[in-house]
Amino acid sequence: MRKILGILLCLLPVLASAQQKVSPDDLNSEFHKERRAELRAKMPANSVAVFFANPIRNRANDVYYIYHQDPNFYYLTGQKEPHGVLLIFKEEQQINEEKLNEILFVRGRDALKELYDGPRLGKDGASEKLDVQMAFENPDFKAFNIDFSKFDKVMFYDFQNDVRDTREEGDLYDLIEQFKEKAGYNQGDLVIEAQKNNLDVVYLDTLMRELRGVKTKEELALIAKAVDISTIGQVEVMKAMRPGMSEAEVQGIHEFVFKKYGAEYEGYPSIVGSGNHGCTLHYIDNYKPAIEDGELILMDLGAEYHGYTADVTRTIPVNGKFTKEQKLIYDLVYEAQQAAADTCKAGIPFSVLYETTKEIVNNGLVELGLYESVADEDVINPETGRNRYYPHGCCHHIGLDVHDKGMYGDLEENMTITIEPGIYIPSGSPSDKKWWDIPVRIEDDYLITKDGCELMSNKAPRKSDEIEELMKESSIFTDYQLPELKSGE
Ligand code: GLY
Ligand code: MN
Ligand code: MN
Repeated sequence: MRKILGILLCLLPVLASAQQKVSPDDLNSEFHKERRAELRAKMPANSVAVFFANPIRNRANDVYYIYHQDPNFYYLTGQKEPHGVLLIFKEEQQINEEKLNEILFVRGRDALKELYDGPRLGKDGASEKLDVQMAFENPDFKAFNIDFSKFDKVMFYDFQNDVRDTREEGDLYDLIEQFKEKAGYNQGDLVIEAQKNNLDVVYLDTLMRELRGVKTKEELALIAKAVDISTIGQVEVMKAMRPGMSEAEVQGIHEFVFKKYGAEYEGYPSIVGSGNHGCTLHYIDNYKPAIEDGELILMDLGAEYHGYTADVTRTIPVNGKFTKEQKLIYDLVYEAQQAAADTCKAGIPFSVLYETTKEIVNNGLVELGLYESVADEDVINPETGRNRYYPHGCCHHIGLDVHDKGMYGDLEENMTITIEPGIYIPSGSPSDKKWWDIPVRIEDDYLITKDGCELMSNKAPRKSDEIEELMKESSIFTDYQLPELKSGE
């Protein structure tokens, strides 16, 4: 038995690397290497940039939340495993008799842990598969001889003090503590204090926002796929929707479609709110057991495909037909969104898009009698300080994060952004009751081009009459049957 176990354990590295399936759409190491080179080109002379992996989060007892890598760390390495630190040097350094400008520290191989949690790259795998110039195992960081004081700038993201000590040698907690000691970072220093020495916790984010805000062709292909998957989910739900379904069931259909197409995760917690629930901007409880006839349902969901996420919202009438009031509000939001899309092109300031939508929404709501005028005293809700019925922004970058990094100044070619105006009229609003419980958000994903923008999320209809038309069709999720369960069973 021992012998068999021994053979199995010896086989583990072989089995492990065989398990590392690479999807044809996966980014290759060349992409990440180029991103490191782009960052290095932007870094100031005699500087080093230091990035840490995301922490693992405990859910309860010995169960952990699904691990999600820090997007900057992933962008620069392709490394999906936790516990690690990346150092990127502007100029080549002499390290262990070698000249190099990047080093990655990773977890070591461990047959028993890999038996439970899956394969690890280890330092050899990291050198080979991630193609970093040099990789070490995390416990080696402690003795790693580096004099941070010789750099003009040591750039990193400030620490949030939210990393657990797992008590394992070389875990993320240790790496951070050891870095702080090596770099002379004093816990509790104000940013301004840190900048008196060579530590800089601000500039690196500017560089990453510049880099990540404009997408490469490889990233655009992944975002396009994430968007296609998300819109096919919306189409399937539009065809399957009927009163009596639960919000969670609707969420399930979307997420089934995501998985069916190979999307690993949701890019953010799915928002599926019918009636008044849709007026809570980030409603993620999705608990309503039976959606009612006559309600609208607001569905804001994005598939995350190979790290990149879409962000798409559709609002549809549960019974397939908008009421008069629902259609008036829906068409106003559509008009605002389309006007912003018509304005969109490289060179336009981001802020113009919100202003365009706000003007149309405010004027439209005056015409419908929901605002007295567009003056602030009639439009701003004094309790929130926001526009009463359109209380959020209109646009953001999408990419590795749903609210992705970017400069948010002028639009540039190959940025990917959302345009997402909305009108939300909760019950109890100071308006005629006929408007109550109408939530509408229409959110689409756009690629900025030199002369305009391309609608990426065009697989799901946006116009009210096109939605009604599609909802007449049926889906594989129409009338499917599962066994009945007694309550409490
Ligand atoms: N799904 C979050 C947002 O639309 O920004
Ligand atoms: Mn959004
Ligand atoms: Mn959204």
